[in-house]
Parts: sequence; C-alpha cells; structure tokens
Amino acid sequence: MSKGTYYVTTPIYYPSSKLHIGHTYTTVAADAIARYKRVTGYDVMFLTGTDEHGQKIQNVAKEKGQHPKEYLDVIVDEIKKLWETMEISYDYFIRTTDEDHKRRVAEMFKILYDKGDIYKGEYEGLYCTPCESFWTDSQLKDGKCPDCGRAVQVTKEEAYFFKLSKYQDRLLELFESQPDILEPKSRINEMINNFIKPGLEDLCVSRSTFDWGIPVPLDEKHVIYVWLDALSNYITALGYPEIKDGNFAKYWPADVHLVGKEIVRFHTIIWFSILMALEIPVPKKVFGHGWILLEGGKMSKSVGNIVDPVVLINRYGVDALKYFLLREYTFGQDGLFTNEVLLNRINADLANDLGNLVSRTVSMVEKYREGIVPKSGSATAFDEDLIQVATAASQLVDRRLDNLDFSGALEEIWKVVRRTNKYIDETMPWALAKDEANASTLDTVLYNLIEGIRIISVLIQPFLFHTSRKIWTQLNISEGELTAWDTSASFGVYPVGTTVQKGEALFPRIEIKAELEALEELSRQQMAAAQGSAPKAEEKKEIAPIKPEITIDDFAKVDLRVAKVVAAKVHPSADKLLILTLKVGNEERQVVSGIAKHFSPESLIGKEVILVANLKPVKLRGELSQGMILAATSGEQLALVTADLEDGSQVS
Ligand code: MSP
Repeated sequence: MSKGTYYVTTPIYYPSSKLHIGHTYTTVAADAIARYKRVTGYDVMFLTGTDEHGQKIQNVAKEKGQHPKEYLDVIVDEIKKLWETMEISYDYFIRTTDEDHKRRVAEMFKILYDKGDIYKGEYEGLYCTPCESFWTDSQLKDGKCPDCGRAVQVTKEEAYFFKLSKYQDRLLELFESQPDILEPKSRINEMINNFIKPGLEDLCVSRSTFDWGIPVPLDEKHVIYVWLDALSNYITALGYPEIKDGNFAKYWPADVHLVGKEIVRFHTIIWFSILMALEIPVPKKVFGHGWILLEGGKMSKSVGNIVDPVVLINRYGVDALKYFLLREYTFGQDGLFTNEVLLNRINADLANDLGNLVSRTVSMVEKYREGIVPKSGSATAFDEDLIQVATAASQLVDRRLDNLDFSGALEEIWKVVRRTNKYIDETMPWALAKDEANASTLDTVLYNLIEGIRIISVLIQPFLFHTSRKIWTQLNISEGELTAWDTSASFGVYPVGTTVQKGEALFPRIEIKAELEALEELSRQQMAAAQGSAPKAEEKKEIAPIKPEITIDDFAKVDLRVAKVVAAKVHPSADKLLILTLKVGNEERQVVSGIAKHFSPESLIGKEVILVANLKPVKLRGELSQGMILAATSGEQLALVTADLEDGSQVS
C-alpha cells in the first residue's frame, strides 16, 4: 500500500546542448530522492523539463536562420537524451512550448487579471537581456546585473504587472511562521532582509518587444514574460487550472522544489505570491542548493578538467558519477570540482571500500565453502557491533534524506561498509580457515559478511542502481522480498544455503596519475576542436573521402554479428587497448580494441556491439584478437555501433 504521494521538481532548464555536471546536480539530487521515496513506498511524481520562451532564444534561433521551435526541438531532444544516459527517473517532462502548458498559462493569466492582481501599466526599468530580468537600482551590483555581472539597459514599454507588493506582508508572515519552507535556513534571512523588507515592487509579467512567448489573452501584441510562464510549469504539469480532480488534486502542494541558490528569489517571493493570488497552497518546501564550481571560474570555461557528464559516464559509469555528486558536496553549499577529487572519491569509496568488500567476501565464501553461504555457528566478539551498526543504518539514512542531506545519507551507509570491512580485519577468516576447529566460527563470519553486504545493497539502491543489482547477482538474490527497504533494518534475512558467485569488479581501480593525464589531454583536444572546427553555416562540411566502389557480393563476404560484451579489461601492456570478451550465440570470442581512451572497461559490460566475425584472427601486443568491433569516429569523438538485438544475430 502507498504511504502517500511525493511530488519533487527540478527547475525547467534553459535549452542548451552542452549541459555540464553542475547543471546535472539538481536533477541527480531529484532523481535520488524520487527513487528513495519510491522504494520506501510512496507514489512519486518527479517533474523536470525545459524553459523555452524569451528573447534570448528568439535571437539565437534567428541567427541560425531557424524558427525557434525547430531550433528548440533538437536541443530538447539532446537534453532528454542526456537524462536518459544519466538514468534520470522523471515521471513527466514538461516543455513550456507544449500546447497544454501554453493554454493553461493563458487561463491562469486571465484568472489573475480578472481578479485585479494583474493590471496594465508602463514599465521603465533596468533590464538584463541575457537574464531576462528587470532590476531596481538598489539591486544592481557595481551598476551591473547582480546575477551575471553584465551591463543593464534602461527599457521603457507598455506592460502588464503582477501586484507583488500586495503580498509582501503575507510573505513575511509565511517565512516567519513556517521557517522550514525554505532551506538552508540562511536563505530565508537573505529573502527577508534583501528583498521583502526593502519593499517589493510590482512585477512586470509581459513584454511587447519580442514575440517568442505565450500571447497575453485578449492583447496579443504582448507575450507573457518568462518567470510567470516558467514557474507555472509546476502546476500546469498537474493539469491546473483543473484542480478538483486528477494530478493537481493528487500531488499539489509539491513536497519540494529543488533549485539552485540563484533562483531561490523567484521560487519563493514571486512564486509564493502568484500562488497566494491564485488562492492555492504554496509548496511544502523550496531547497536552494549550492553551486559546483571550478577553481577561478565557470564550468563552461573549463580547461584541464572534464565537465561533460557523458564523457565521465563513458569512462566511469553512471553510478560513480551520481554517487560522486551527492557524496562529495554538501547540498546547501558551494563546492569545488576537479577531476582529481572525482577520481579519488571513486577509488576510495567505490573501488576500495565497497568493491573490495564485495569481492573479498564472495571470494572467501567460494574458497572456504564452495560458494554456499553457511548457517551462522559460534559467535565472535565482533558480531553484535556489526549487526547493530548495519541494522541501525536505514533509520539514520531516512532521517538524513528527510532533510535532503544526500551526503550525510551516503556517509551513514558507508559507516556500514567500513564497519563490515573492519569485521573482516577483526575476525581474519583466512586464519580461521586454517583450523577445522574454527569451522563454526568461520560460518558465522561468512554469513554475517554476506548479510552485511545485502543490507548495504538495499540501502544504496536510490543512489547506485546498477551496483545494487550487480551485488544481487553475485549474492544470487533477485529484487523482491530480500531487497525491500524495510529488510535493511533486520539481520538474518539472507537465505542460508544460497550459492554466491563472484562477478566482475564493481568499480575497477583507476590509475589516478595516468587517468588525470588522459583527461587533461582530452580536455585540450576538446578545447582545440571547439575553437577550430565549428563549421560556419555557409562552409561545406569536410568528411573523409569515400573509398572505391565495391559490389554487393564483395560486401556479402563480410559476416557482421551482434555480440554482447560479457567481460572487459585494459590490455596488460598497452593502455590504449581493451581486451573484450564477446558472446556471439553459443560462442565466446576475445577481441582487442583500441577504445580505452573513450570507454572504461566497466561501462561496456552488457553492451550489444557489432562484430566483424569472419576477420582473420591476429595477435595485438601478444593478445589474440578474433575479429573487430565497429565504431564511428568524428575527430576525437568515437561512438560504438550497437544493436538492441540478441547476440549472434546477423547484420546485413
Ligand atoms: N530556466 C531557469 C529555471 C526556471 S524554473 C521555473 C534556469 N535554468 S538553468 O538551466 O539555468 O538552470 C537549471 C538548474 O541548474 C538550476 O537549478 C541551476 O541552479 C543549476 N545549475 C546550473 N549550473 C550549476 C552549477 N555550476 N552548480 C550547481 N547547479 C547549477 O535557471
């Protein structure tokens, strides 16, 4: 039975085809909390989307000679693809260009206008075009836009206004009576002292100098100005103004809006006032998280560090990147990103602490008990503490996540990981195994280790989806009763007599120095490519010359097959090469491939690639290669050709 509903949102993103890992922070956090709420029994609605109107977008599309929608469709697809790669488990993706959204925003505008909370006037203000924000004199920083630091222009136009000033007292009262509504707490003082107390001015909610927006009802030379359009996505996605039934009745008010700290003002002062004017409840919480920054600059100006999430995922896997983002940084604070912190975190927490724990334990059960998990026997002096730490963890994780303390929640889980590793050092199973008289104690140790790992695997599910599944495969259990969240508070659930089986390393250890050099080189190449090769619209694209013609019979000689990667490792004497084990129907093949620069061995497992199956075998640096796999290349970029079909299938 459902424990209730949970509605979590990210901001809707400005369309950009190059989202960096800083951008993905809000979404990764929302994904973790959504997954956590689902596994703990909630009916979750997780909303994300894109914010597609405004002058800036109209200008860019015009420069490219495209209609804004045509330009946007491509970029929005790229964003959706990124979320797919990052396995973001959103339930609904809203675009502000969706017909439903546009119609509902227009209806909302009319409700506010009819009520007198929107009126027509004339605006003269200081406008920042890139930020699409009007500012008052007192809000400027050194005479420039306080958000982006760029110059502002005096702008005058006929416009519609929302009566923000009317809600000043109610806002103050709300912040004072419900301080939990905005976190971290420090942000409340900022809102009260910097914005509310100095006095709120009515807000310009329409523009007439561009037309890429939702037309104002009955006055179509105006379009609705972006923040009113954008913020309302949180309710139009639920069907507003239909509030009696459906998703609005079910999910509103939102449990939490997750936003970056720079847009807290919009999500509290402006959004709360709009909701008050519409006479519907405000969200239960807005959380303004910190920024992930590079030393001395913005993410997009990165040199030396790789901030493209896709490159990082290809090399280290999606679990590692999500884990890193949530564990390394305190959610409410800013943090510094470098490739080195990322790699150190992966090695220390994932390869060493968790990866070694699982591989050591499963190996010992295989070595000492032929893989069969024994029933506990004689107690050791360390059992009680291990059991206590392991079974207490889920409650501590719950408490941390209720406060959106992702890093703290992962730290609680890692206390169990470290406690279990320590249990191995304390009980020394390899010493117990030497003497048959200790067999019963060894049984206890092995059982407790396996059960400790099961509990860890249950707790990591919201953050490390694939890792939990990989552990379940090694423990030979499937998703269900043995992996349910509540079972992480009980010890002794793992069924005695189950046969475990060692798998690939969960997180291969990274050679930090070599990897940092590789990343730096890659970053240099990316910068060079970005500076040199962006083709101008009128330039013809250069491609490699097409090879001489062949007949269909020539082509038919090539036997192409779908092959599944079942194992992968770096070549022992050539770090550019990977040695892949491929399953092709009933047969296994070894293929050596020069793709180490683009993929970590782990990220390839399970991929269905295309193999040239009848290529004469060769030895590459001493390793047999029985065929080659197909890849497409463009400059420094490489993509494997894949097929979502059973291995062994013919490609023709
Ligand atoms: N379109 C507005 C939001 C409208 S919501 C009604 C917007 N979009 S955005 O694309 O600029 O930002 C999306 C999210 O990414 C925001 O939460 C923003 O804070 C976050 N981040 C962008 N760069 C970031 C970092 N470097 N670090 C952490 N988060 C950052 O704002």
